[in-house]
This record gives sequence, C-alpha cells and structure tokens, in this order.
Amino acid sequence: VAAVNPPVRRLADWPAADLRDLATEHGTPLYVVDLDRVRENAVRLRQAFLDAEISYAVKANAIGSVLETIADAGLGAECASAGEVVRALEAGFDRVRYTAVNPPARDLDRVVDLAADHEVAITIGASDTLDRLAERGWTGELFVRVNPGVGAGHHEKVRTGTDPKFGVPDERAAAVVSEAAERGFDVRGLHAHAGSGILNDDDLDSHRALVARMGELVSEVADAGVVLDTVNVGGGFGVPYRESESPLDLDSLAAATHEALDSVDGSDDRDPALGIEPGRYLVADAGVLVTRANTVKSTPETTIVGVDCGMTDLLRPALYDAHHAIRLLAPDAAERGTVSTTVVGPVCESADALARDRELPAPARDDLLAVGNAGAYGYEMASTYNSRPRPAVIALDDGESRVCVHRETIDDLTRLEVDR
Ligand code: LLP
Repeated sequence: VAAVNPPVRRLADWPAADLRDLATEHGTPLYVVDLDRVRENAVRLRQAFLDAEISYAVKANAIGSVLETIADAGLGAECASAGEVVRALEAGFDRVRYTAVNPPARDLDRVVDLAADHEVAITIGASDTLDRLAERGWTGELFVRVNPGVGAGHHEKVRTGTDPKFGVPDERAAAVVSEAAERGFDVRGLHAHAGSGILNDDDLDSHRALVARMGELVSEVADAGVVLDTVNVGGGFGVPYRESESPLDLDSLAAATHEALDSVDGSDDRDPALGIEPGRYLVADAGVLVTRANTVKSTPETTIVGVDCGMTDLLRPALYDAHHAIRLLAPDAAERGTVSTTVVGPVCESADALARDRELPAPARDDLLAVGNAGAYGYEMASTYNSRPRPAVIALDDGESRVCVHRETIDDLTRLEVDR
C-alpha cells in the first residue's frame, strides 16, 4: 500500500511526462511548486507537534500561492523583514512573528505600524532593540532571542546558533527578559535557532542540547519573577537531499523536544508551550526546477552539460556546495548509458555549477533535466546577476497547473532605472 503522506518525496517520484509538458508550454528554466505536497508537509508537522505553535519561516519561499496554502493549513508565519511581514499578512496569516535580526529603522517603522492592527509579536536579538521599539511607542508581544552557543546545520554558513550576530548572549538572556518586563513589554517567551538543515545524529543532539538549555533559562527567568508562556526553539528541520539520506523521524524529534523541555522543571508556571518555525521542511520537496541543456561538450576531465539555469536561479550549490538531485527527463533516459557529468549554468563565474562529476544518463543537447528539492531557498534566493531575468513559477494545485509567478523579462530589469 502506497503511503498516503510519505515523509519524503524524491525527485524520482515526480512524473517526468508532466514536467516535460509544463516545460514545453511555459519554457525553461521553470520552477514548479506542488501546493498539494506543501499541504501534506504541513499536515505531518501538525500531527507530530500537536500542541506546538508552528510558524512557517517565510524566507524559505515567499511566493503568494505558497504563503496562502500554508496560512490556510492553519500555521502562523515567521518573518525576517518588514517585506516578509507585509507579504505574510497579505496572504492571510493571522499570526506573525517578526524576528528582528539587526532590524533596519525602516523595517521597525513598518512592522510597528502593522502590529497596531494585526497579531504580530517581535523577537529581539539585542537589548538596544528595546529602546528602538520603545522610541516608536511599541511595548507589545515580545520574544527574546538567545544565542545558545549551540549550532547545527548543513553548512557553516547556516549555523546561526554559534554566531554572535544572532541573539543576546546566553548569560545575558535572563537579565534582558527582566529588563523588558520592567519596561512594560508583554514578554511572551524565549527564542533560539540552532541552524538550518538538521538531519544527522550530531545535529539532532545539538538541537536537544539547545532545547534543554532553553528549559533551564525558563526556570532562571521564573526565579526572577517573569513567567513565560512559550519557548520557541526555532526551525532548521532538514530534508534529505541525497538518496543515501533518510527523512527526519518527526514523531521522535517531537518527543525528544518535549522531553528535553520537560526534564528541567515540572511545575506549571515553568511549563511553557513549545514554538517551532520550520521553513525548508514545508516546501523543499514540493519544488523542482526544470531546465534544458544548451550544450554538451566532452572534455578530458568530464562531460560538461550546459543548461539554461544557473546560480542566479538556484544559488545553493554555488553558495554552500549544496547537493541537489538531478534527473534527466528524456523519455529514453533509462536506456542511455551513464557518464560522469558536470552540469553548469550560463553565468560567467566558475562557481556556477549545479553539480560536479555526477553520474547521469548521457545527456544530449535540448534534453530536459529536473533539479530536486528546489522548493526551499530556490526562487527566493534568485537574482538577476548577469542581467538574467528570473524564471516563471508554476503551481500545481489539486491536479491543475497555473502560472503563479510570471517569467521576468529583460525590460523588467531596467524598470526602476531613471530615464537618461
Ligand atoms: N527561524 C529562524 C530564526 C531562522 O533564521 C531560520 C533560517 C528558520 C527559522 C528556518 O530554517 P529552516 O527550517 O528553513 O531550516 N539559505 C539557506 C538557509 C538559511 C536559513 C536561515 N535561517 C539554505 O539554502 O540552506
């Protein structure tokens, strides 16, 4: 019996013929995002973390159709900027958490303005943000982000938990909470985020250590007379990018998280609700990027396959050496022998390779290829470097497909320039 809502959707599970049809109709490069899969991921999260406050980290994918789907699934939104807060509210989220990381004045102005009419809590990561909020007349729902000194994640560049840029130093956290409470802020809870892409045992251990530390802090803060109602332990839940990786066991992750929190102190006033804010987990395997081969060239080292998407469309391989599955969508792919290929984009940078020395069925010019797990931090991190317009995005929704973001044009690139 096929699993109704499997914990992982591999690139091989996408119907190749449908992706070829979409590429023929809409051109390439083309992002495809399956909103039904986003819904499935939301359901699994809600089932595993029944009583938790779940906020979707909008930064993973902020396309309106995606946001609306997740808002409809009953989740809140975690936002990293005023822009994300605006987009989340427009998409219908009725609960927003704004994580103010070194917040620009313009962002604070806008968020404080929006917080007057909407349920927006602000998470601060530096005590002087209290002054900046008070100056704007805002003393609403507040979380204090702690730098837990525990990091986790798929790459050094995404391990926020050990980076002093993020959160107030662990040993200052209780004092900042007390100060905020004394100044009349509605202090709701503590927040921490270890990093992004938690999948292996070491990272899970770090996550548990972070949760346990948060529990201790709740007790410390309670000793100082401030009762917190929520501990937000961040996002970071990873998904398998390689065939060899297994999906997270959400149920045991949820159990371990509760256990780490509960082990600290059982008394009721120190038993806060759990908050989590996953991004990648909800959207990564709901997206693919479809691209066409422009050129195939044999070299002494490898076969170079030049495709029409590059680091401007999917930055992760260039920025983090991230691995993304690549699949040849040709109808006869199974009959072709495999070759070691390096799949490169059209951008004038050596970093612009989607995969190096990857065994693939021998690609030919004009073949279509699909890149897996492109739903998270894919379109969202796209740029127009090299004056490359960004791809179109197609949403799959209950068996139908529709354009949800138009392909950018070269004219769009100069739209904000002042006429000369
Ligand atoms: N909460 C906070 C405070 C965060 O900083 C982040 C991610 C999340 C939640 C969501 O993390 P997730 O569940 O998606 O792992 N561009 C990188 C990921 C950067 C994540 C930054 N913060 C990548 O493509 O891997």
